[in-house]
Amino acid sequence: MIISIASDHAGYPLRKIVADYLIKQGHTVIEGGATAADVPYSYVLAGQKVAKEVLDGTSDRGIVICGTGIGISMVANKFPGIRCALCTNEYMARMSRQHNDANVLAMGARVVGSSLALGIVDAYMNEPFDGGRHQTRVNDMKEQEKELFK
Ligand code: RB5
Repeated sequence: MIISIASDHAGYPLRKIVADYLIKQGHTVIEGGATAADVPYSYVLAGQKVAKEVLDGTSDRGIVICGTGIGISMVANKFPGIRCALCTNEYMARMSRQHNDANVLAMGARVVGSSLALGIVDAYMNEPFDGGRHQTRVNDMKEQEKELFK
């Protein structure tokens, strides 16, 4: 898969770990955002970049990381068509795929340790969408976007 991943400065160290991990698994990774942990970078810009790349088909999925995961998930979810799931454990990541067909994963680098983060990434990358009644609900979300953004 082609994965867009970006972070602010707070998410930078975890972003590097996650990007390396995905590359070793054979994924193509498009990285963006902060250039170092001690050089401030807005989570807004990082979230926008990933959301745009997922929506225009540059990448198949996105991963966004900031300190808490909150700001950057808010940014991503303001883009119609993005279903960004802020996950703090593997169960949430599995469910975000099975039930919500999440196309962006958000994590907080100050919230989850790196081994838990990689478990969350595994669940997000490997869990299929269940479809069925969950497809109906995702379709309803899309209808809501059409109504609110027309
Ligand atoms: C940066 O200090 C911090 O505000 C940011 O990483 C994030 O946690 C915001 O939601």
